[in-house]
Amino acid sequence: MTAWKVEKKFRNSLNLKMLQLKINKNNETRVIETKPGFSLLDILQQNGYSIYAPCGGKGTCGKCRVKIKGEGTVLACTYQPDHDIEVILPGKEEARILTAQTDFLEDLPADNDKNNHLSPNPYGVAIDLGTTTVVLYFLNMVSGKIEKISSFLNPQNSYGADVISRISYCQQNPNGLIKLQQVISKAINRELNLFFSEKKCNPDDIVHLAFSGNTTMLHILLGVDPVPIALAPFKPGFTVMQTLAGNSTVFNINPKAEVTTLPCISAYCGADIVAGLAALKTTHKTFLFIDIGTNGEIALVDKNKIYACSTAAGPTFEGATISCGKSATSGAISAFSDLNNYHVIDNTKPDGICGSGIIDVMAYLVRNNIVGQDGLLQAPFIINEENNMIITQDDIREIQLAKSAIYSGIKILVSEAGLTLSDIDALFLAGGFGNFINVQSAISIGLLPAELNNKIFPIGNSAGIGTLQFLKSKSFEKKINKVVEKTVYIELSHIDDFNFEFALNMNF
Ligand code: FES
Repeated sequence: MTAWKVEKKFRNSLNLKMLQLKINKNNETRVIETKPGFSLLDILQQNGYSIYAPCGGKGTCGKCRVKIKGEGTVLACTYQPDHDIEVILPGKEEARILTAQTDFLEDLPADNDKNNHLSPNPYGVAIDLGTTTVVLYFLNMVSGKIEKISSFLNPQNSYGADVISRISYCQQNPNGLIKLQQVISKAINRELNLFFSEKKCNPDDIVHLAFSGNTTMLHILLGVDPVPIALAPFKPGFTVMQTLAGNSTVFNINPKAEVTTLPCISAYCGADIVAGLAALKTTHKTFLFIDIGTNGEIALVDKNKIYACSTAAGPTFEGATISCGKSATSGAISAFSDLNNYHVIDNTKPDGICGSGIIDVMAYLVRNNIVGQDGLLQAPFIINEENNMIITQDDIREIQLAKSAIYSGIKILVSEAGLTLSDIDALFLAGGFGNFINVQSAISIGLLPAELNNKIFPIGNSAGIGTLQFLKSKSFEKKINKVVEKTVYIELSHIDDFNFEFALNMNF
């Protein structure tokens, strides 16, 4: 029994007055009953609602805002209902997710038929399990055709935006790991069920599920304790490829199906980077590969060796630590030239700013001397007063920390390989964020090196496409294993120069 249920039972025994909460979401109304003494966030989560809560309910990020009829907007994690209320929840947030194949990524012929005997109509699903977003590629295992691509925001967002807050949730709650595992499994099963009804097929037709993701996401998926990932010496429960039978998982698939998680390199260099590097097609011999998500993962490939590191960029470029930041969903400013020229996703009224917009705004502030080289902001910068969209000094500090973490990681890897930036032939930017940012803005704020101007290429969702190649092709596993063998992980906190570089690169 969860702590919450024990508490509820105890309160029931005291016969405390039940409260009625009317919940409105997407024009649907539901009434739930609860006792006083719980936060609204807890009540909503226990009743199956997913509320974006990047700080994990600590009351510090200001993102879990919901409306209470007659009372205005409150933070769900600090508000404890003590009377009947009507709650208006934000509508479903659709993430802007990159799924397309690009010329930079492998598109191998389908020849992986080892599980096809399990169904006359065999399908496989490649799943890129991101901390923020999840993308599913449904593959016809006979024709090699992608039958459907679907995506959703990771519902674990309700328990913290980044891997550290999810790990803390597992550490601090006796059933935290089970809860997070259930939340993601349920969301994946929902997508599988939608596919069955759309394609008129059934669970027995799914013969293979393949997952990539960071090391923490894969641990939670498999119900393996992720806490050692956050504690020195940062030793994860596993890094090698895991293979399970369908009937030993909760997924709604053929009981004999294969469920695979691709291998990781270390605690903070996951299968997403491995899959992406294996899928990359390039003739360059010396290049950088960067995936900026809730963490900044960087690899430097130099002929037969790969140096990799992870930088604590935090979820700043996902908008989580910026006061008016949000994910790249409807209403987010995603590109910004000046106060009269900006683009809002879905062309609606702006209600926040996502990573690509944050970088453009920062570049604007530096260009116009509104922010000094040292990051000092003359006065809070108002983007849209009505929606309280203001860039503050604290926001600038968060951006400085995040951009310096990435830039310093690049510098350290290049130096560990005995190279200089002039030796680098190309920089490949993986993932949605890399695809949507304005490279010139990123260079001008010192997120990416100016020396690599004209050598920077967005490559798309390399983790998702790499996982898809693993499903499709028998030979791809060898490429994956080669990436793992060739990679040397550099722990930045063990490098003497890192702190010096980090301080140096804080300036704009
Ligand atoms: S302020 Fe409520 S989750 Fe962060």
